[in-house]
Amino acid sequence: MSKRSDVLSIGAAADGAPQDGTPMADQTEPVRVRARGLSIGYRLRGDEEFVAVADATFDIGPSEMVCIVGPSGCGKSTVLGAVAGLVPYRAGVLEVDGQPVSGPASDRAVVFQKAALLPWNTVEDNVAYGLRCYGEKKEPARERARELLKLVGLESFAKSYPYQLSGGMQQRTNLARALAADPNLLLFDEPFASLDAQQREMLQDELMRIWSATAKAGLFITHQIDEAVLLGNRVIVSTKGPASAIRRSVEIDLPWPRTHETRLHPDFAGYVEQIWRMLSAEEQPDRPPGPTAV
Ligand SMILES: Nc1ncnc2c1ncn2[C@@H]1O[C@H](COP(=O)(O)OP(=O)(O)O)[C@@H](O)[C@H]1O
Ligand SMILES: [Mg+2]
Repeated sequence: MSKRSDVLSIGAAADGAPQDGTPMADQTEPVRVRARGLSIGYRLRGDEEFVAVADATFDIGPSEMVCIVGPSGCGKSTVLGAVAGLVPYRAGVLEVDGQPVSGPASDRAVVFQKAALLPWNTVEDNVAYGLRCYGEKKEPARERARELLKLVGLESFAKSYPYQLSGGMQQRTNLARALAADPNLLLFDEPFASLDAQQREMLQDELMRIWSATAKAGLFITHQIDEAVLLGNRVIVSTKGPASAIRRSVEIDLPWPRTHETRLHPDFAGYVEQIWRMLSAEEQPDRPPGPTAV
């Protein structure tokens, strides 16, 4: 069976992590992202702090797509923001390519749920925008933008404006924009959540095709279990917040490249069910909701 990456083995017992289903890499192999005991909080007022994530421990290999699922408010976006360098962490280890994360960098790109394209720029110039910010000249930036628009199937819309595109096409543009600076790591925060079911499925297929062609590392946040199983090498299941823990994962041993037909694979529904059960156990009302100030 061809796999996108065979870098990772689940359950390595290094750094004091537990052995069952810990989403960590074989310690002898390089990893793109390394998080150990990561704790992330938000400052409320004065010295008060709300601990959103108490312990996130996971790795992402150089060509792996790792998905995180978990109850709403458990800290998925917070973890993604920390990896992006947009949200500071308070304790633990967080490294990208062996370097501690200290802020945003061009080796990482984020695809948010809302495309946030510049309405006064053409599709082509929206994709070229990031490259222009990094000092690329206009024509080479546009040329690269057109290549990427071809990759996402939008070459004939290069001169259109965002308002002329459907939601799905806007999100394709967003994806092309994220790929423009050729980042090593792509971070997706529920990018297809606002699309209708058909557009979502088309974009998932598109992403699988692009992913097979580009071989990057990815972190994909979603609340849709089937989306996580379809796209991920591994699915990390977060406990509910506040002070959530991100230490358990399920390795998705479905063949690569993933395609539209992967949904029909005999093991697909079993993975969905397994993760659904893990999440359902999380939803049991064993502690009161709401922020914890420490
Ligand atoms: N800027 C912020 N300031 C204070 N609390 C925040 C902030 N952003 C998120 N939170 C809180 O952190 C927790 C995790 O949020 P988030 O990461 O957005 O969860 P998810 O993406 O899993 O739905 C939630 O309780 C949320 O209210
Ligand atoms: Mg979120």
